Amino acid sequence: MKVGVLVSGTGTNLQALLDTVHQRDGIEVVAVASDKHGAQALERAREAAVPVAVFPVSQFAERAQRDDALARWLAEREVELVVLAGYMQLLSPEFLERFRGCVINVHPALLPAFPGLRAVEQALAYGVKVFGVTVHFVDEGMDTGPVILQRGVEIPDASSAEEVMARLQRIEHELLPAAVRLIATGSVRLDPDNPRRVLIDEIRDRTAS
Ligand code: GRF
Repeated sequence: MKVGVLVSGTGTNLQALLDTVHQRDGIEVVAVASDKHGAQALERAREAAVPVAVFPVSQFAERAQRDDALARWLAEREVELVVLAGYMQLLSPEFLERFRGCVINVHPALLPAFPGLRAVEQALAYGVKVFGVTVHFVDEGMDTGPVILQRGVEIPDASSAEEVMARLQRIEHELLPAAVRLIATGSVRLDPDNPRRVLIDEIRDRTAS
């Protein structure tokens, strides 16, 4: 399965994908794109010899145009799964239509709690005792697509976002590659009776045995 990764920041999730699923079991990261020229994630891609491209907001009159150029670049590389790994732009409905059901995102909260930006700060301000990570399909809403994998962690005495983020990143770096692996092996599908519900065959098999 050919994977394209969209990034804006440091790229630790991209690195986890490169280190654990890239060039294994038929999975290949074939493209990394960003909205930011200076993103550290691009360096990580270059080091792994993965083609990179930048589509800055300022170079396009509208988001639709930028996403059209991005979608064409990904399609040229025959990308089958688009992974948002710290990508700080919303994707246009046309982009999502083109890659329908094939775009996933990692979010540092237990959705549907705390969608959007600064999720960890929102959770801290709310005073939660359990934090967590969600990997989900991307739809037109803000972090509203069907949940693929989720894991919580109890941090009852959390005081800073940095401390919580450090704990969550370890989970992200396991969960995101795990989701890619499951999708690549064809183990992930939507429940025909409830398309919000993601069924994972491997997990079902394990709990059945
Ligand atoms: C991650 O924490 C992810 O949850 C959020 O953006 C961050 C990206 O971090 N969507 P990195 O660039 O992968 O280090």
